[in-house]
Amino acid sequence: MYYIGVDLGTSAVKLLLMDSAGKILNVVSREYPLRFPQPGWSEQDPQDWIRESFDGIRELTADIDRSQVAGIGCGGQMHGLVALDAEDRVIRPAILWNDGRTEDETAWLNTEIGKKKLSELTANIAFAGFTAPKLLWMKKHEPENFARIRKIMLPKDYVNYCLTGVHSCDYSDASGMLLLDVEHKCWSKEMLEICGVEESWMPHLFESYDCVGTLKPAVATELGLPETVKVVAGAGDNAAAAVGTGVVGEGGCNISLGTSGTIFISSEKFGVDPNNALHSFAHADGGYHLMGCMLSAASCNKWFCEEILKTADYAAEQKDITEEKLGCNRVFFLPYLMGERSPINDVNARGTFTGLSMDSTRSDMMQAVLEGVAFAIRDSLEVARSLGLDIRKSRICGGGAKSPLWRTIMANVCNLELEQIESEEGPGYGGAMLAAVACGEFSSVKEAAEKLVHVTATVKPDPKISARYEAQYQKFSRIYPAMKEIFPVLNV
Ligand code: XUL
Repeated sequence: MYYIGVDLGTSAVKLLLMDSAGKILNVVSREYPLRFPQPGWSEQDPQDWIRESFDGIRELTADIDRSQVAGIGCGGQMHGLVALDAEDRVIRPAILWNDGRTEDETAWLNTEIGKKKLSELTANIAFAGFTAPKLLWMKKHEPENFARIRKIMLPKDYVNYCLTGVHSCDYSDASGMLLLDVEHKCWSKEMLEICGVEESWMPHLFESYDCVGTLKPAVATELGLPETVKVVAGAGDNAAAAVGTGVVGEGGCNISLGTSGTIFISSEKFGVDPNNALHSFAHADGGYHLMGCMLSAASCNKWFCEEILKTADYAAEQKDITEEKLGCNRVFFLPYLMGERSPINDVNARGTFTGLSMDSTRSDMMQAVLEGVAFAIRDSLEVARSLGLDIRKSRICGGGAKSPLWRTIMANVCNLELEQIESEEGPGYGGAMLAAVACGEFSSVKEAAEKLVHVTATVKPDPKISARYEAQYQKFSRIYPAMKEIFPVLNV
């Protein structure tokens, strides 16, 4: 049988075709626009996701016997608000995970409702990108749109809805709405009330590997697939990526260098970071995880190469950054191009180059960008370590992980052994694995991970380089606190 994994990302939807043995037979990627209507805002048109996902499924399956497709599983960008009216029409463009417009609503939730109460109700505090502050923003700034809401969905749930006609959400993605009681895996009635949200607006909750329905007959015809194809609830992209890299069960770690950068620590038991700097979310394997998320990771590299240096040849920009230069750069970069989530929670933070002098080179600045992202991931790793988690190795995935140099920098900055697996397509592979579990190929997500995911290479930290990076990290850690007060002034 065949399984389709869909990674509904921020810049593109990436689709992957997997067979019963876990072999990847085909991969297709289709881009769609990302709009920034105001500085710090970030929106997408859900119809773009549907068009490209449907066209992508047709392209992905063009050369196979489509009657053998058994399941579809989607991992999607988290937190985005898709609001539907009484006829299930999309009310306004989706407000995405990296949108920073909700500074006031986030502050109101964290101070007026209070972090303690939010954490008791949802295991998390408010961050600007989460879904609940977006609803409060819409209620205040677009009351006529808010009044029309009859369903609230997350991005990949809207794709699942268009495939099946079922309003569903899985626990991992629902965790990032700040409306879920994460520990007990149900909507928090109190949070819904605080946000003025009716429970009937919320989708049905499922485990990620549960089948939510089969293809609507018209969709099956449109895609050329059997009506029997099972669609699973799927997962937030980070949980799906963790499944795809085999990070399930107790104490696994995955670092993803995608548009966002995340560090994801899996656990069988529910737990909360007492300072809520890390998110406490459900996992797609039925358990839980802690996660730190930085808003701009591989996107810093893309921005610097494509927008500033006007090149798409990333490897050429990295070729002068030789090993003896690692840990010796005098140029530092704060990677906060869209503000920052974990752990500083500051929508006003911005990117900066610091330490430039007349002898600074293009390649020093390139190196600073890659290092700045690694230092910011380390910030979240340090929070996890401060909770007593002994993390010495991690899987790594995402577009940024394709660069051997960036993997070396990450391993040495974080002092972690980094394991690569066969495919970097974490969320898509995880989505296909969840579909295979729902169709009975495996008895659990854990079994699927054990059978299908294999480490192909490991980057070990070099004691000399990581000692140099330790000193660099201490310097980096002083830059944001020194600049924090100036950012709101610059942004006016
Ligand atoms: C996680 C987060 C991002 C998006 C990116 O909390 O906001 O990783 O899921 O797609």
